[in-house]
Amino acid sequence: MQKQTTILKPDHKGIAEAAKLLVQGELVSFPTETVYGLGGDATNDHAVAAIFDAKQRPTFNPLIAHVPSVEAARKLTQWSELAEKVAERFWPGPLTLVLPLTEGHGLSPLVTAELPTVAVRLPAHPIAQALLKEVGRPIAAPSANPSGRISPTSVEHVVSGLNGRISAVLDGGACPVGLESTILGLVGEPSLLRAGGVPAEQLEDFLGLTLRSMAPGETISAPGQLASHYAPGARVRLGVSSAEAGEVLLGFGKMDCTLNLSESGDLVEAAANLFSHLHTLDALNPSGIAVAPIPDVGLGRAINDRLSRAAAPR
Ligand code: TXA
Ligand code: MG
Repeated sequence: MQKQTTILKPDHKGIAEAAKLLVQGELVSFPTETVYGLGGDATNDHAVAAIFDAKQRPTFNPLIAHVPSVEAARKLTQWSELAEKVAERFWPGPLTLVLPLTEGHGLSPLVTAELPTVAVRLPAHPIAQALLKEVGRPIAAPSANPSGRISPTSVEHVVSGLNGRISAVLDGGACPVGLESTILGLVGEPSLLRAGGVPAEQLEDFLGLTLRSMAPGETISAPGQLASHYAPGARVRLGVSSAEAGEVLLGFGKMDCTLNLSESGDLVEAAANLFSHLHTLDALNPSGIAVAPIPDVGLGRAINDRLSRAAAPR
């Protein structure tokens, strides 16, 4: 049942073709500013089930519904004044909001794993926006990687993980942010469900409060936040400044290393390079990947979150 994955150019014709496939219930990967998404029609049970199958997700973790406008988000959720305020400031962009579902939302129950809440996101990437507008319905999309593996920030990553498992991928080059969206829970007290592309400090400043966030080992509130995740084939060792025999070294700041996340110590540049450098180092088949310490502030928190999951026992 292997089908060939077509690489589509992100011009009018390619976007129209991608939209047609999605409406027919096929799976199409598309670029967002964070990572590539593995998209399917969020209103079609069969398409959503096919997403879980293509990724080989072990369980039905809920998916993010991507929408073309704030208006579309209002139709899916019990939209609040706070949601409106946050969306005005941070959308479109790398921020996902979790809100109570509204009646008559029309989403497949598989999208929300039958929770009474839904994660919605309005991405800033022009290709994602053009596709969402053309499709005219919400697109469910996890990151376009086999479950538990490194997230994809280029078409090559998508194809190397999912070739033959999805109908097409829209080629948008490298993803500028390079880390998944921040997930903000707006059910009850605002809470940080996942660190990501919008630094938590920016949200806290804007909201004027300290966000509750999940400590490792606490009940999983973003169900996809499993301890072992984003895992390369090689073992990962964190917070070290030199490699042992057989290891490669992922650096940060001025240092001798195999690949550097950012020589100038810029966390934005480091976030954009993170998954792509992990893919490159893993392809060298080292005995392990040693990683330099990353400051735990701003985007560094999201980077350290992903790295600690990559290093977690499997
Ligand atoms: O940047 C991103 O967010 C990318 C791009 C493609 O948009 N998507 C992404 O999706 O990272 P995924 O499926 O890899 O991660 C979605 C996360 C999971 O941890 C899931 O558990 C959580 O969102 N989530 C989804 N619905 C939720 C809900 N109703 N309540 C709490 N967490 C939810
Ligand atoms: Mg993912």
